[in-house]
Amino acid sequence: MSKKIFSGVQPTGNLHLGNYLGAIKNFVELNNKIDNECVFCVVDLHAITTKQEPKELKKNIRETAATFIASGIDPKKSIIFNQSMVSAHAECAWILSCVSRIGWLNRMTQFKEKAGKDKEKASIGLYSYPVLMAADILLYDATHVPVGDDQKQHLELCRDIAQKFNNDFNAPEFLRTPEPLIQKEFSRIMSLKDAQKKMSKSDPSDLSRINLTDDKDQIANKIKKAKTDPLPMPSESSILSKRPEAENLLSIYSSVTNQSLEKSINEFNGKNFSEFKEKLSEIIIEKIEPISKEIKRLLKDERYLDSILLEGSKKADRIASKKIIEIKELVGF
Ligand code: TYM
Repeated sequence: MSKKIFSGVQPTGNLHLGNYLGAIKNFVELNNKIDNECVFCVVDLHAITTKQEPKELKKNIRETAATFIASGIDPKKSIIFNQSMVSAHAECAWILSCVSRIGWLNRMTQFKEKAGKDKEKASIGLYSYPVLMAADILLYDATHVPVGDDQKQHLELCRDIAQKFNNDFNAPEFLRTPEPLIQKEFSRIMSLKDAQKKMSKSDPSDLSRINLTDDKDQIANKIKKAKTDPLPMPSESSILSKRPEAENLLSIYSSVTNQSLEKSINEFNGKNFSEFKEKLSEIIIEKIEPISKEIKRLLKDERYLDSILLEGSKKADRIASKKIIEIKELVGF
């Protein structure tokens, strides 16, 4: 059955191996299935929920589009566009924010993490960000949304918002409740410096993540410096919960090589971390270096990237403006 796929990535710089293994790798597989209709969005309206330097933001929008293409998303098959070019996203988010309940948003763990201790100083946009995310998805009648594990709660909220809108306006099934596509394994890649924390764009330590623009020396150096424990490589998965660094590095290895965790454990059972790390560097470099080179090549051609985003926006706008007209009609405008 054909699927309607929608997903988004924030253009906030430092796209990393977690973004790739948790989400973008999946986008590419979905793009490659003939029947799927895919829309991949550079979510620049989401990016400004925290302060962005305008010149950097422009650069990061192009870099995110370049990353999609360099990773293997074909702009002729899938729609690649940036959110701010399609005004229906902001309009729909406003309407849905009048349907959503404050109590629902108060439960969002990502807001609590991002806002930190001083919630009073967080932007209103950061707080209502999941409503904009729901608007993104619902405007395209998406059936499936590929994301990493950290977006699960936002997708549950999206389903609640869709159901409440349909109930409030007596329009059963009008907004389609999407299914999350979260990989069963390896959907949360952790920091190379602290395996209790997610690998993140905003971690001040560049050594905590492999950026998709890193070259082979940078990748090798980061893996060499990645935190481990003093024991030899584990022999069974049951002890991994007590050895989070080993678990994270083995998960990265398994995800990049598309093999099960069990198989990776057997491959390195009892060996030294240094031997494992050498192999790990090798396979990450093999995967990421061509992407990194292609991103850098594409970034030199701003006109090409802008034309992809413009074309994509026109196609996205045709879908989203039709839906927002129907939404406005139901609301009574
Ligand atoms: P963002 O930009 O933070 O992340 C983009 C994608 O990468 C995944 N991801 C990870 N996966 C595994 N391990 C990690 N350490 C890791 N870090 C990030 C995220 O789960 C995500 O899939 N709110 C979204 C963007 C968005 C969106 C949407 C997504 C806006 N509208 C509509 C889907 C549908 C976000 O901030 O992703």
